[in-house]
Amino acid sequence: QAKPDVCILEVGPRDGLQNIKQHVDTSIKIDLIKRLAAAGCQAIEAASFVSPKWIPQLADSPEVMKAILPLMEEKGIRVPVLTPNMKGFERSVQSGAREAVVFASASEGFSWKNTNCSVEEALNRAEAVVKAAISQGVRARGVISCIFACPYDGPTDPAKVLQVAKRFLEMGCFEVGLGDTIGVGTPAATEKLLRVLLSEIPAEKLAGHYHDTYGQAVANISKSYEMGLRAFDSSVAGLGGCPYAKGATGNVATEDVVYMFHDAGVSTGIDLEQLSGIGDWISRTVNMKNGSRAGAAIFAK
Ligand code: HMG
Ligand code: MG
Repeated sequence: QAKPDVCILEVGPRDGLQNIKQHVDTSIKIDLIKRLAAAGCQAIEAASFVSPKWIPQLADSPEVMKAILPLMEEKGIRVPVLTPNMKGFERSVQSGAREAVVFASASEGFSWKNTNCSVEEALNRAEAVVKAAISQGVRARGVISCIFACPYDGPTDPAKVLQVAKRFLEMGCFEVGLGDTIGVGTPAATEKLLRVLLSEIPAEKLAGHYHDTYGQAVANISKSYEMGLRAFDSSVAGLGGCPYAKGATGNVATEDVVYMFHDAGVSTGIDLEQLSGIGDWISRTVNMKNGSRAGAAIFAK
């Protein structure tokens, strides 16, 4: 099978389900990941090895990994997992993870709320994880939160995003995800930020991780694609939000992104109809409105 033109990382099972208030059975998480794999997803953020006291929703990550990894390996699907510190990294490796995701905010306020430490401390913890990962042949990806604005500190200076992105790359991350945690970005803001980042970082090292609170995420992805980015994170049915950013919605819905790309002749490897069925199923299963406009329309046909 030919490599798709863009790499879509499906983050619904992690970024999405970390925010669902009601209990979601481990078996449903496993089912969701297997269905996403069957629909052609090539990368699925399946689990999170953060403190279960902070995110109880994903405390069953070891069980989820155990159940899905053989299939993922067989299909060659990437399975990145969150590892905020060495304890998380060690737990992830015990569960068979081969791709670690470290994260830090571009703003101090969110850093304290999300990881109980300063940005510098989060980067130091990340560096320890990335160094350990590389020494064990595990890939590491960095994700920056609050690239446009922080719910506590207000607008983010693009220079700060550049600084954190460079730190992640210097410590050995193969890619840096740009997280619009509260989904306030617009195409104009995306262009302004990417101009700054692309002056020092090649486009293939960057990925868009945009949330859709203000309905701008598809447009922001389109702008990012025009400017050379080829990797994007999205969430089936737009599942999610952020436990430390009140009112924020989930990541842009994968169905909406795939619909946009396929119409432009850009391949994703994903079967849109099948994905729309999964979006309808998981929304009903967790009692939430389907957050994908395209997915709901396609499923209703
Ligand atoms: P802390 O409480 O300051 O940590 O949390 P600590 O080191 O003082 O440890 C406290 C307790 O937690 C200890 O246990 C540790 O062993 C345990 P106790 O002695 O009390 O029994 N502990 C752990 N247990 C399991 N796994 C671990 C772990 N670490 C410590 N990894 C910490 C600091 C970073 C751990 C915590 O703040 C945390 O887990 N934060 C993560 C919060 C989170 O998951 N947020 C959502 C993900 S980020 C996100 O969604 C944004 C993103 O999508 C991009 C975007 O959209 O912007 C990536
Ligand atoms: Mg996110």
